[in-house]
Order: sequence, then structure tokens, then C-alpha cells
Amino acid sequence: MPSLTDRIEGLRRAFEEAAGKAADAKALEELRTAFLGRKKGHLTLLFEDLKSVPAGEKREAGRLINELKQAVSAGLEAVERRLGAARPAAAAASAGEDLTLPGRRRYVGTPHPLTLFEEEIERIFLGMGFTVEEGPEIETDYYNFEALNFPPHHPARDKWDTLFIEGDLLLRTHTSPVQVRVMERTKPPIRIICPGRVFRHETPDPTHLPMFMQVEGLVVDEGVTFAHLKGTLEYFIRALFGEKLKVRFRPSFFPFTEPSAEVDIECIVCGGRDAACRVCGGSGWKEILGSGMVHPQVLKNVNIDPEKYSGWAFGLGIDRTAMLALGIPEMRYFYENDLRFLRQFGAK
Ligand code: DAH
Repeated sequence: MPSLTDRIEGLRRAFEEAAGKAADAKALEELRTAFLGRKKGHLTLLFEDLKSVPAGEKREAGRLINELKQAVSAGLEAVERRLGAARPAAAAASAGEDLTLPGRRRYVGTPHPLTLFEEEIERIFLGMGFTVEEGPEIETDYYNFEALNFPPHHPARDKWDTLFIEGDLLLRTHTSPVQVRVMERTKPPIRIICPGRVFRHETPDPTHLPMFMQVEGLVVDEGVTFAHLKGTLEYFIRALFGEKLKVRFRPSFFPFTEPSAEVDIECIVCGGRDAACRVCGGSGWKEILGSGMVHPQVLKNVNIDPEKYSGWAFGLGIDRTAMLALGIPEMRYFYENDLRFLRQFGAK
């Protein structure tokens, strides 16, 4: 039987040789078990044998075994570091993975495209000193029609295919009632926009839905003219669509404005080139908003003196404008919640 000292020396050499050869995680673990294994590891056995060493030699033998143990631990760590550097590729390869494949994409939720578009509109008007207001979606006949200068039973009401609830209540057909609510509680100067949902008894088609979004704008102050209306709306449309887009103002009629104008922009979906375009019907133009000078009767209804103050207002269809801005040929896409559609917008 070789002396303990010789055995220690032999094990040291054996360890160094094996450590130098260890080429993968498996070899490393085998080496660790062979030397540091709790039951049958070389070091455990050495410590056991230490018990039978004569008392005078125990100290020295114990020191040598401890030294070996430290050397083995340090050696295993060194092997681990050496293997670690090459590990991801090697480990992946041994697990049958292909590191050249593109990463898997994780989708996080993003705001709805209409929300993003509404925020863009708000940003432009906030930049011009407007503030944002809101009003109820369930309205009374008074705010939706009467205060806006629609006499009861007036045929102009037919243009807004109203969804009635009961009695005096209805789903607002436009955001214009918010004008009235704001003017009732605020003294001029007023400069507000109010975005929100509106409802109409409509048959869905590519540019009509029974529920859609509008944003209303209202300015009331002394000396406000149609030139302000035109300048502000032109600035807004250019900020939204860029300088090159063709815009036209067209005379129109609304009971709550006089004079009134509608604004058309060129059809971005077909560029006016498709006679069968489902968005513009081949005209090359699409109406995006109604506007006008607030009717003196509307100002009187909210106790604002039309001799002293004047105002202009507009109501813009958010969905329809977003369609044209984003080149979407079908308004229903906004409400179908198809992730393939929604994921094209917002943060990626
Ligand atoms: N409320 C109108 C609509 O739904 C749009 C509109 C026209 C709003 C003229 C206005 C306005 O504020 O002045 O068709």
C-alpha cells in the first residue's frame, strides 16, 4: 500500500491530467464526482483514511489533503470557465437548436389605431391653444337637436338617422351637443375640441358604421370670422396629411351654422383613378368634416350675445379621416379586433 503522501501526489497528477482533457460539461461533472463526490469521491476516502494515520503524522497528512482539495476545487472552476466561454453554442447544438434562426417575436399590446389617431388630432389642436372637453353619449333631444337650432319635426333632422332610446333620450348622432354644454357653462373666449363616439341608424358599408367617432371643434370670441375657420382647418389638415394633399371647401347646410361648409380631401385610397373606388365612389374626393359659423340662434340659446360674439365650429369623422390617412379601404377593420390588422399600428 503506497503511503498517504504518495497517494495524494498520484491523485493530484491524475486530476490535472483529466482536467486538461475535460472537453464538455459531462466530463466536468464526472471529474467533480470522482474527486469531490460525498460518498466515494477520492477526497472523502482520503479523509476517511486519515483516521488510521498515526497521531504524529496526522497534522501534516491533513494539511496535504486539504491542499489537494483546494487545488481540485480551483481546477474544476478553471475547467468550468474554459467550457463556459464556448457554452451557449455548444449547449444549443447538443440540444438540437439552430442558433441561426431569427428570434421569436413577443407582441405587447398597443393602443388602438383610432386612439393613436385621435391623440394625433388632439396634439395638433392643443398646439393651437385648444383644450379637450367631453360630453355624454346618451343625450336628450334638446342638446342633440333643439339647442342646435333644429325645430321639432324639422326635416333637417332626417339627415341624422337617430337611434332613439325612450322618451326624450337618444344616442347622440354627432358631437355637436357638447358645444352647447360647453357654451352653457363657459364664458367666451372658448377654444375647445371634443372627441367621442356617435351613433346612427346606418347600414354598414366601407365608409359607414352605426357607431363611429367624431371630433368637434368650437371657437367663440369677439371678432371671429370665416377666415379663422378656413385658416385653422387648413393648418390642421396640412399638419395631419402633409403639405401636398388637395383640400376643398364646399358650401353646405347645417341648421346650427350659417354659412356652412364641408371639407373634402382627395381620395388617398384610389387617388381619383378608380371609377369603382369603394371609398370615394370614383369622385376622387371624400368628405371628412362639416363646419361653419355658429348660428346666432345657437348663441342665443346659451345666453351668449351674438351682437358681441361670433364663433366657428366643425365636426370631423375620425374613422373616415384615419382611413384616408392610413390608406385603409374598409372602416369595419377598425372594429373587428383582428390582431393581424391591429398589430400594424403603434409601437412594434
Ligand atoms: N355635426 C355635424 C355632423 O355630424 C358636423 C358639423 C357640421 C359639426 C358643422 C359642426 C359644424 O360643429 O359647425 O354631420
